[in-house]
Amino acid sequence: MIRPPFRVEPLGKQHDRAAFSCGVRELDEYLRSYAGQDEKRDLARCFVLIHEDDPGAIVGYYTLTNAAIARDTAPGELRSPYSEVPALLIGRLAVDRSHQGRGWGRRLLLHVLLRVARLTKESGFALVLVDPISQDATGFYERFGFRNLPGAERMYLRVKDLRKTLGSA
Ligand SMILES: CC(C)(COP(=O)(O)OP(=O)(O)OC[C@H]1O[C@@H](n2cnc3c(N)ncnc32)[C@H](O)[C@@H]1OP(=O)(O)O)[C@@H](O)C(=O)NCCC(=O)NCCS
Repeated sequence: MIRPPFRVEPLGKQHDRAAFSCGVRELDEYLRSYAGQDEKRDLARCFVLIHEDDPGAIVGYYTLTNAAIARDTAPGELRSPYSEVPALLIGRLAVDRSHQGRGWGRRLLLHVLLRVARLTKESGFALVLVDPISQDATGFYERFGFRNLPGAERMYLRVKDLRKTLGSA
């Protein structure tokens, strides 16, 4: 769990996006150049992990966006009478290199999954999706019950199985 002196809050002007470095250029650039624009256009919500002694420094971040997959591409276990299966997408998740390997990726993923679990009570969706950026990232998500979506680079976790992941964490 994430407890004081650490906290997760919406990305804001006070956060130093340029200093963030997770080792994957695309994820650093996204935070620096596009996360704010996506926020303004309501395309994504971005949340950052910070330490209260240095609240401008971003320890990690994740983004959340509504999404859907075509019914035909959904695994057989996901039956839907509609043409699309609604989902929430954890588009990006990263931890600054200086903090990697200390459990922050795990805590950040559980934090967003708890947020997702709360949202299931407000809106109907059947899947949590992630877009792993590398083979390493795939390995990371597999540990939390995500599986490959057939024919896509995405991975999914059924909302039905969310409780299992949160319960065993
Ligand atoms: C992947 C990433 C988020 C993991 O964060 P982290 O803080 O280093 O990871 P943690 O210390 O929380 O490790 C959590 C668990 O995942 C495992 N893990 C971490 N990185 C892993 C990887 N690349 N492959 C497989 N497992 C991994 C750890 O061994 C640990 O397992 P354990 O609980 O059994 O000990 C981080 O390394 C990162 O930001 N990488 C670059 C960006 C990236 O790949 N993002 C992924 C989403 S696109």
